[in-house]
Amino acid sequence: MTAAGLPMTVPAPGLPARVRIHEVGARDGLQNEKSVVPTEVKAEFVRRLAAAGLTTIEATSFVHPKWVPQLADAEQLFPLLDGLGEEVALPVLVPNERGLDRALALGARRIAVFGSATETFAARNLNRTVDESLAMFEPVVARAKAAGVHVRGYLSMCFGDPWEGAVPVAQVVRVAKALEDLGCDELSLGDTIGVATPGHVTALLAALNEAGVPTGTIGVHFHDTYGQALSNTLAALQHGVTTVDASAGGLGGCPYAKSATGNLATEDLVWMLDGLGVDTGVDLGALTATSVWMAEQLGRPSPSRTVRALSHKE
Ligand code: HMG
Ligand code: MG
Repeated sequence: MTAAGLPMTVPAPGLPARVRIHEVGARDGLQNEKSVVPTEVKAEFVRRLAAAGLTTIEATSFVHPKWVPQLADAEQLFPLLDGLGEEVALPVLVPNERGLDRALALGARRIAVFGSATETFAARNLNRTVDESLAMFEPVVARAKAAGVHVRGYLSMCFGDPWEGAVPVAQVVRVAKALEDLGCDELSLGDTIGVATPGHVTALLAALNEAGVPTGTIGVHFHDTYGQALSNTLAALQHGVTTVDASAGGLGGCPYAKSATGNLATEDLVWMLDGLGVDTGVDLGALTATSVWMAEQLGRPSPSRTVRALSHKE
């Protein structure tokens, strides 16, 4: 470790020069908090994330407020983020046309639909079958694309499901292809309950390539339930993936999958990528200070190992 609180840089072969971090703390993190975080605190969180160098910051969700009360203030929050400028993208989750109307009315330029590889999670999270949810997304993606809005397609339960157990790779590939065929610009493979291991990640990426889904359109979204998120990320990077989802301070989970814990912590990811000499544009010190501040707002310490190590005082 250097005196500046950064890892020594020792590059390894076979990795991309740059990784785009898709920061999900304000959405995936805060949707799972027991308490509802005040809107101004959320706005300040996003501003601090942007100041730390993150350029893709998922801001909130335009879902039914009764389903996710923690994000029911989307209409109030989104306009508060106006001042961040063109260089910071603020994607929002949108499940259906009602959500799209709400997002477009506020000028959102990036949306994400969110499908499931399994029937049980589709029913619990979207009140639909897998195919009904794809039908629900179809006009959303078409209208968003016609409006020049970038569309991400999340796919949950890609590696395992708390109710159905192991999820066959072919089942994941079918729904991923369907999301791509709808016109999604990018896919994000969700390990919603954090059960993936690196060989499984490589096998799924290879199967997607074989089915015609290029690695360049794929992002990875690992929850860290079993401590595998960073290893899984490294496997994905070695396969050529350059978009990685992470959550500042390791906040996160999913209210409709109780076994989901926090996402891969952005600080843990940046520590590894800084050490590998992979550029992220993120200032680790400023990001850690943001997560320490957010932990104070939430009244409990960050689960991120890097945040704990860097903020530890003798
Ligand atoms: P539903 O009950 O089937 O809705 O819920 P509906 O279509 O039957 O409509 C019922 C009423 O809700 C109607 O009102 C609609 O207008 C209204 P009424 O006519 O009765 O007065 N409504 C809405 N209101 C506001 N905004 C909307 C909206 N849609 C309908 N967008 C629905 C279906 C999809 C809405 C619901 O299931 C829902 O909101 N689900 C969201 C669940 C969620 O946000 N989960 C967390 C995100 S996913 C995740 O975390 C995983 C991820 O991180 C990846 C990973 O880790 O794997 C992305
Ligand atoms: Mg998630």
